[in-house]
Amino acid sequence: MENSGLACRERKLNYTKGMVVVMEKDVFILAVESSCDETAAAVVKNGREILSNVIYSQIDLHTLYGGVVPEIASRKHIEKINQVIQAALDQAGVTLQDITAIAVTYGPGLVGALLVGVSAAKAISFATGIPLVGVHHIEGHISANYIENLELEPPFICLVVSGGHSHLVKVKDYGEYEILGRTRDDAAGEAFDKVARAIGLGYPGGPKIDKVSKEGNPDAIHFPRAKVVGSEYDFSFSGLKSAVLNYLNGCEMKHIPVNQADVAASFQKAVVDVLVEHSIHGVKESGLSKFAIAGGVASNSSLRNALREACEKEGISFYYPSPVYCTDNAAMIGVAGYYEYQKGVRHGYDLNAVPNLKLGERV
Ligand code: KG4
Ligand code: ZN
Repeated sequence: MENSGLACRERKLNYTKGMVVVMEKDVFILAVESSCDETAAAVVKNGREILSNVIYSQIDLHTLYGGVVPEIASRKHIEKINQVIQAALDQAGVTLQDITAIAVTYGPGLVGALLVGVSAAKAISFATGIPLVGVHHIEGHISANYIENLELEPPFICLVVSGGHSHLVKVKDYGEYEILGRTRDDAAGEAFDKVARAIGLGYPGGPKIDKVSKEGNPDAIHFPRAKVVGSEYDFSFSGLKSAVLNYLNGCEMKHIPVNQADVAASFQKAVVDVLVEHSIHGVKESGLSKFAIAGGVASNSSLRNALREACEKEGISFYYPSPVYCTDNAAMIGVAGYYEYQKGVRHGYDLNAVPNLKLGERV
């Protein structure tokens, strides 16, 4: 990563004949995201204004297999990436000449999928001289909160719950994070997807459980709320998933019909209870009064309602992105990329996909 050494395009913009010319200029970020099964591109103006947000979702393709097939995801990204980037520029009414920097997700995620976005962004950067900024996917999810909450500034606590991650994070400043808690096994979204499959709802499980739960009784079955001894903020969802599977097996052995909606609602309540308890405890202990949520599971209606209620009761300001900015998208990458760019972060053409990139780590 390069923190100094401006790319030639920036030099052209900011310097004239060796003299520094301060230019009041809008910053346009072209953002690219391809870490899993969404091929996405967006244009973000001055960090918080979304000019376009194009998402090509591969969900229908992967539904056939009951989950994301990495090789298929990579191939589809290759097929779609150029079209999606062009559509993002067109919808924003800009061309590459207007773009200040290109932000791209370089981890964590599926390595083959990440590589497609990273290669596309590097190729554009190389051909045009536009600076390249690599972005952490989870940092993108957290930054989705800045889009519709213009007043939101760090520090705050953020619960990140997606298909691959469950983190309780202290956002100390833009790009500065302290992880308070993390999952010891399955991510929250992963638990939703596995339980949905077990009760015959199919993929993707989260939205389906969310919908079916509305018809069910959340108190019908008591599933466990796991605590991780010695780590008050850590999560564990694999025991809950096993408890659901055991319950289903028990019903089958005893020839008792399974009420799908009751199982879904009871499972969802067990997840929501744990997420709410840890989050509120984390916010209170931090001494902060702002709390945000992020990631695909953050679009869960029951979780949003429970957190809204709990925050109201505790006098905590609650921030959450619209569902379209909770699940994978490139607008959030553009927002995170903007703050990285403003800090002087630049990546070279050696930028690589880092499937296990840690939050706060810069490669
Ligand atoms: O953030 P995301 O789009 O991708 C990752 O970075 O993982 O999250 C996808 C996850 C999936 O596990 C999906 O089932 C879950 O988010 N999800 C939901 C809902 N919408 C998506 N989980 C619960 N309720 C929802 N409404
Ligand atoms: Zn994600």
